[in-house]
Amino acid sequence: MVLKVGKGANAPPFMVMDVIAAANARQAALPPGAPHVIRMEVGQPGTGAPAGAVAAAQEALRSGHALGYTEAFGIRSLRQRIAAHAKDWYGLDLPSDRVAVTMGASGAFPLAFLAAFDVGDRIAMAAPFYPPYVNILTALGMQPVILEAGPDTRFQPSIAMLEKLDPRPDGLIVASPCNPAGTMLHADELAAIARWCDANGVRLISDEIYHGLAYDHPVASAAQFSDSAVVVNSFSKYFSMTGWRVGWLVLPEDLLRPVECLAQNFFISAPYISQVAAEAAFDCHAELQGNIDRYRRSRAHLLTALPEAGFTRLSPAEGAFYLFADISDRSNDSMAFCARMLREAGVAATPGLDFDHARGNRFVRFSYCGPEPDMREAAERLKGWR
Ligand SMILES: Cc1ncc(COP(=O)(O)O)c(C=O)c1O
Repeated sequence: MVLKVGKGANAPPFMVMDVIAAANARQAALPPGAPHVIRMEVGQPGTGAPAGAVAAAQEALRSGHALGYTEAFGIRSLRQRIAAHAKDWYGLDLPSDRVAVTMGASGAFPLAFLAAFDVGDRIAMAAPFYPPYVNILTALGMQPVILEAGPDTRFQPSIAMLEKLDPRPDGLIVASPCNPAGTMLHADELAAIARWCDANGVRLISDEIYHGLAYDHPVASAAQFSDSAVVVNSFSKYFSMTGWRVGWLVLPEDLLRPVECLAQNFFISAPYISQVAAEAAFDCHAELQGNIDRYRRSRAHLLTALPEAGFTRLSPAEGAFYLFADISDRSNDSMAFCARMLREAGVAATPGLDFDHARGNRFVRFSYCGPEPDMREAAERLKGWR
C-alpha cells in the first residue's frame, strides 16, 4: 500500500547543504598530501564556542545538574541577560518577558511565522534572501512575495519597492546584515521601513543574526523603531555557537502567548545546557572580538584579491562574513561555475541560485569566516584559475 506524503515534504532543499556535501566528498576523495579543499561555502565560524561558554557547560555537567526541560521561553536569567544585551547594544529598555529563547534562529522562524500569519498570507522579502525564509513559508502554506533588489539598494528592500506592492503584503522579512549579500539596512533605512510597516499594517520580521559582525556602520534593531516588530537573533554567528542550537526572539506583546503555546508544543524548550553556555557567552566579548578582527582582515584581503582574480563586481560587504559576486561576465550558470571551481581550484563556494531563483545563476557567495591562511590561499588559487 502506498502511504500519503504531506505537502511539507515538498519543501525545497537548502542547496548550500548539498554544496557542503559535495565539498566533503571532494575532500574525502583527495589523495594523501594533495592540497585541501578550501571551504568558502559554509556560513559558520570555524572557531567554536568561546572558552567561557564551554567552561559553563562543563561546570553544569560536572555539578550533576539535572539539565531537564526549562520553561518554553527559556531560563529566566538568560532572558534577562538578553534584555541587558539589548540595552548595551541598542540602548533599548526591553522587558525580559518579551524575550523568548529558541532552538536557534531556525527554530524561531516557524514560531514567528505561525503566530503572526495565516495560511495563504503574503510575506515580502528582498531577493537575494536566506533560502529557509522562502522554504519554511512555503512549507507552512504561506506565500513569499519576492522584491528583486540589486546593487542600487545594496540588495536590500526599499520603501519605493514596498509602495509598489498592491495589495499590501501581510508581512515583511528583512535581514541586516544579510545573507548572502553581506549588506545592511542602515539605521535610518530600517527606521523608515519599520514606520512604513506599522502605518500599513504589515508585520515586520527582522532577522538580526549577524549583529555584532558589522564593519563600517553601527547596527540598529527593529525593536528600537517598532513595538510590533518581531526580532530574530541567535548565538550562532557573533557568539560562534552554531551547533549549540540556541537563539532568541524579541516579541511584541500581542504575539507573546501565541508563540509561547507554539513553543511549548513544538520544542518544549531549547536545550538546557546550551542556554547555560549562551548566558556565559555574554562575558566573552574580548574573545569574540578576536574573531571579528580576523573576519575584518580576511574581508579586507579578499576585497582586493578577488577583483584581481576576476571577481570584479562584489557586494559592498558591510557585515556578516559574505561576499556576493556578480559573475555574469564569466558564466550564466553559477551551479556549473561553482562545481568547476571546486574541481579545478579546490575552492568551495555557494552558487547564487539558492538565494535568488530568478537571477541566482549570475551570482556566487563566498564566505570568509574560515581560517585566515585559508582565505589568503583561496585568493591565490583563484588568481591562477579562470
Ligand atoms: C540570515 C540567517 N538567518 C538565520 C540563520 C539560522 O541560524 P541558526 O543557526 O541560529 O538557526 C542563518 C544561518 O546561516 C542565517 O544566515
